[in-house]
Amino acid sequence: MEKKDISETLSLIEEKFKAALEKHSGKLPAVAKDGIYDNRADLSVSWTIDNGPAWWTNGFWGGIYNQLYALTGKKEYLDEARASRRLMDTCFLSEYYTGLHHDVGFMWLPTAVADFIMTGDEEAKRRGLLAAQLLAGRYNPAGEFIRAWNDITPGESSNRGWVIIDSMMNISILYWATKVTGDPRFAHIAERHATTVMNAFIRDDGSVRHIVEFDADKGGFVRDYGGQGMKQGSSWTRGQSWGIYGFANSYAHTKRKDFLDAAVKIADHVISVIPKSYLIPVDFDQDENLSFEDSTASAIIACGLIELDRHVPGKGYRKTAEKLLETLTKARADFDPAHDGIIQRCTGSYNGPNDREVNFVYADYYYLEALMKLEGKDVMFW
Ligand code: GLY
Repeated sequence: MEKKDISETLSLIEEKFKAALEKHSGKLPAVAKDGIYDNRADLSVSWTIDNGPAWWTNGFWGGIYNQLYALTGKKEYLDEARASRRLMDTCFLSEYYTGLHHDVGFMWLPTAVADFIMTGDEEAKRRGLLAAQLLAGRYNPAGEFIRAWNDITPGESSNRGWVIIDSMMNISILYWATKVTGDPRFAHIAERHATTVMNAFIRDDGSVRHIVEFDADKGGFVRDYGGQGMKQGSSWTRGQSWGIYGFANSYAHTKRKDFLDAAVKIADHVISVIPKSYLIPVDFDQDENLSFEDSTASAIIACGLIELDRHVPGKGYRKTAEKLLETLTKARADFDPAHDGIIQRCTGSYNGPNDREVNFVYADYYYLEALMKLEGKDVMFW
């Protein structure tokens, strides 16, 4: 991508989110359907315990404004990021606490940790450390993994040994917590969890599973599930994206070569199956005539490949990332400020009836992050 195209696209993104401030400041948008955002902070809606204020993507709205603050230095963007983080405080103080989950890293890394890295703000640091403690508390020492999700109904134990590939992004808050406190326990948990995931999730062809179940009492692999992908054994594209970026980040924190090799293996699998159109399907194994897409996966793969290229230069990872970002910009971006959300055709889950072909706030977040990463201007907290 030409430098000029990157800066022009970044200006369009800034314009879009500057306009969004007028309409949506003080909300927590997650999904835009037909160009209209929802608001996960609206307490008049009867959310389930984890899809309102505790929804896993709620950190990305603030994340967008933190990145825009890093890009422009405009105080109003930092103010919005902080306001959105304060809305999420209700999760620590109300019934939504019991809805918190393995995705607390997704919630407080782009908000609290990004803010602390940029400004040294102590309130932000405390929120980041609270989230890190919660994530560390989910660690299962017998199986050396961080548990995904909570009991489906209180006392119902069937998913206590479940781990998902998405966790690889969340553990960055543990590496950060060790860095900022000097206490090594957090990084020990992150590293052990990443080792368990590396050994159990990556298939011989380099694709990754979405969900693996371990024995919650004794540890050890029990079985895997297709999760949000097409089926058991298939290659859910967003899962592949979390794998590339997550292992590249664990390498950056630990310098462990096996983590880097894991990121490379997943990346090489992904590059071998990216369609010629560079439009990313929901599952790399879906019928090629099927039009299901997940542009979110495209933006996250781009971020992961740019990060990987920093550690393994010369293999063309950055070029592939640029191609993905060019395609999103030309074919899937809506920069009209009258509509909410930029990146179109995002899909939650291959078999899910809802959240198909919508805009997700985190698609826009990773699209912005990837373009800023190309320029070396992003605030990096993963
Ligand atoms: N963390 C869940 C997802 O990627 O949809």
